[in-house]
Formats: sequence, C-alpha cells, structure tokens
Amino acid sequence: TERKSLVAGNWKLNGSSALVNEMNQALNACDFKDTQVVVCVPSVYLGQFSASSFDVGAQDVSSHESGAYTGEVSADMLAECGAKWVIVGHSERRTYHAESNAVVAQKAQRALEAGLIPIVCFGEEESIRDSGDYVEHCVKQVAVVVEHLGIERFAQCVLAYEPVWAIGTGKTASPEQAQEVHQKVREFIAQKSAEVADGMRILYGGSVKADNASELFSQPDVDGGLIGGASLKADDFKAICQSA
Ligand code: G3H
Repeated sequence: TERKSLVAGNWKLNGSSALVNEMNQALNACDFKDTQVVVCVPSVYLGQFSASSFDVGAQDVSSHESGAYTGEVSADMLAECGAKWVIVGHSERRTYHAESNAVVAQKAQRALEAGLIPIVCFGEEESIRDSGDYVEHCVKQVAVVVEHLGIERFAQCVLAYEPVWAIGTGKTASPEQAQEVHQKVREFIAQKSAEVADGMRILYGGSVKADNASELFSQPDVDGGLIGGASLKADDFKAICQSA
C-alpha cells in the first residue's frame, strides 16, 4: 500500500494571533500535492485559522467527555472549533502531566468518538535507549493503545515515534535508528492485522529540520514527521512539508 505522507507541526506553548495569520497566508499559498499537512496549535487559536491547504489540530484532549474538570477541553469542543486532529501522549504530557499509557489510550478513544484523528506519540528516554530495551518500551506504549481501542478503532489513528532524547535537542535520530523502531512497531501491529499494519502511518519526531527531513522521510517505514521547533517558521515548515 502507498501510505499518504503526513507532516504535522506542533507549536507546543508557542505562537500568537500574528503567527496564525502568517501561517494562514504562507501555507494556503502552497500546493502540498500528495502530502497531508496539519498544524497543531494551542486550542485557543483553532478558531482563528482559515486553512484550505492544510488541517488544524490540537495538542491534547481531555480523557473525560464533560463535567467538573476545570481547565480541560473536550474532544467535541476541539472538533467544534475546527480541529480535525489531536496529538495524544506527547512525551511532554507524559513527563510533566504524568500521563500513563492508560490515560493516553483513553484520550485516543475520546478523540475518535468526536471524529478527530489522534496522533498517538510514543518513544523512549535516553536511559532506555542506552539500556538497549527501547524497542520493547515503544511496543509496550503502542500495545496499550491497541488493546484499549481494539485493532479496528486503532486503525483510525496515526502514530508518532519521538525518541525523547531527540526532542528539542538538535540530536536527531539517524534515519537507520528511526527506521528500526518504525519497522519493529509495524511488525508488532502486523501480528494483530497485516492490513492495519500496512496502512498505519508512523511519523518520526525529534529535531526534524529542513535539511534532514528528506533523508528521514525516505525510510520505508517513516511516513512523515511531527515537527516542533521548525514548525514555528513558515519557510522551514513549508520546506519540510515539501520534502515529504
Ligand atoms: O512534537 C514535536 C516533537 O516533540 C519534536 O520537537 O522538532 O522541536 O525536536 P522538535
């Protein structure tokens, strides 16, 4: 199967109305051809986009549907504000907000129920990379989501491999390092369903820049990228999208 390339930007806690306007102009002027482009922004900005050549998404979603959860934003609310996608289980959420694999799986479920596509992140810390057990660690993170959703609903997700040691550090995983984990995770999914494994898009994230993107994206099991810092500069982000 030809999997459609996907590049998603993750603004994290950055941006402004001025950046929304700049991206609207810069990205809508582009024809990304066969690459799908998503910009994941702080949810307060979702409604300010007028995106035509790309989609907008959120960076997190409540694991609850509604109720007494002060400060939370539900999947239905994100959808109502124009989000089509939502990142779940980013390592920064796992680390700073103590999100467990179970919570991440629940968030993916909420997203799917609201018609959003979850971008489910996984990846190992540097100590786990050094221990040699990084594939097992990554497979475990994905497995919890597969088990919670069931393979059919899981098929509606996109995955993103983000080795924590490569996030915001300038220390990109080598194309071979990314490919190894992507391939192993795809093999794990294939044990449940060869068809789902074949169609599953697995993005790479961690210090992707305009000058290393095409090498990473050319790996057979790397279907695009999740871009942090470089998604804040229109020219860099456009160049990355165009190399997918
Ligand atoms: O979600 C994006 C990733 O955490 C990568 O961030 O491109 O700034 O390393 P980065």
